[in-house]
Amino acid sequence: MKLKKVVFPVAGHGSRFLPATKATPKEMLPIVDKPLIQYAVEEALDAGFTELIFITGKTKRAITDHFDVTLEIGVSNITEKKKKLFEEMNNIIPKNCSCIYIRQGEPLGLGHAILQAKPVLADEPFAVVLADDLIDAKPGALKQMVDFYNDDKSSLIAVQQVAKAESVHYGMIDCPEFNKGIGKISNIIEKPQPEDAPSEFGVVGRYIFSNQILDYLAKTKVGTGNEIQLTDAIKSMLGSNIVSAYVFQGTRYDCGDKLGFVKANLEYALKNKHFGDELESYLRNRLA
Ligand code: UTP
Repeated sequence: MKLKKVVFPVAGHGSRFLPATKATPKEMLPIVDKPLIQYAVEEALDAGFTELIFITGKTKRAITDHFDVTLEIGVSNITEKKKKLFEEMNNIIPKNCSCIYIRQGEPLGLGHAILQAKPVLADEPFAVVLADDLIDAKPGALKQMVDFYNDDKSSLIAVQQVAKAESVHYGMIDCPEFNKGIGKISNIIEKPQPEDAPSEFGVVGRYIFSNQILDYLAKTKVGTGNEIQLTDAIKSMLGSNIVSAYVFQGTRYDCGDKLGFVKANLEYALKNKHFGDELESYLRNRLA
């Protein structure tokens, strides 16, 4: 079955980024001039997805508004340059693609958020993208995964090497063997202490799932942090389904974390064609 559907869970608290996220969705924080959620959506569109499912919640209305056609091009005093910009902004989502917004009434965890999409996922495989994990890659991380999925058809999770001390922030996998960056996951543990981490590979926010994950999610009880954890559902799936880990090519920034967000802004700003060079010379002077 062709992959068309992608889920963007955007209903979390964003507590690591308070006070900025008190009334503003974390996923609307900009990297230079574009909100995180737009990077995530563009990555999914590039990978060929056409049905975009957003799991939204309290204080997240700006995300819904962002993808609407809202800028008025017909206004008489508008310049040609502005008209072009407005047209571009009104067409972030191509005409052949659709957006579906589902509310997660209470942020009971990532697993719970994904489960809210069940009525529209029917029996299809689907991707999940966490917008606060920004991945700078060409081709995009999700495209890399779709290319592999099309050959293999098993569930696929993006992973990266993380420092041992960092394991407390990740779902950590056990994968006895990697071949060209792909390996079968034999175990997964949510946020283990460094001494309990089964390997140095941590999960980052890109997944492709067979539809069965929804059955496992429905049976998953509240776990770490009093939330329904996606990691726990993946773990129970491992006995009867192949779930592969994929070491993507690219650089990932944890933009749900203040330092990760600042680093991403710096790197993207340094690459900006209008002011990257000026910023670089400013930084060189500042640090001299
Ligand atoms: P995080 O683990 O970053 O959680 O969620 P969070 O609650 O947003 O942030 P912190 O840890 O409190 O700072 C990863 C993704 O899953 C979504 C978040 O919006 C984020 O994109 N999520 C998380 C939900 O949609 N619902 C939830 O109940 C939890």
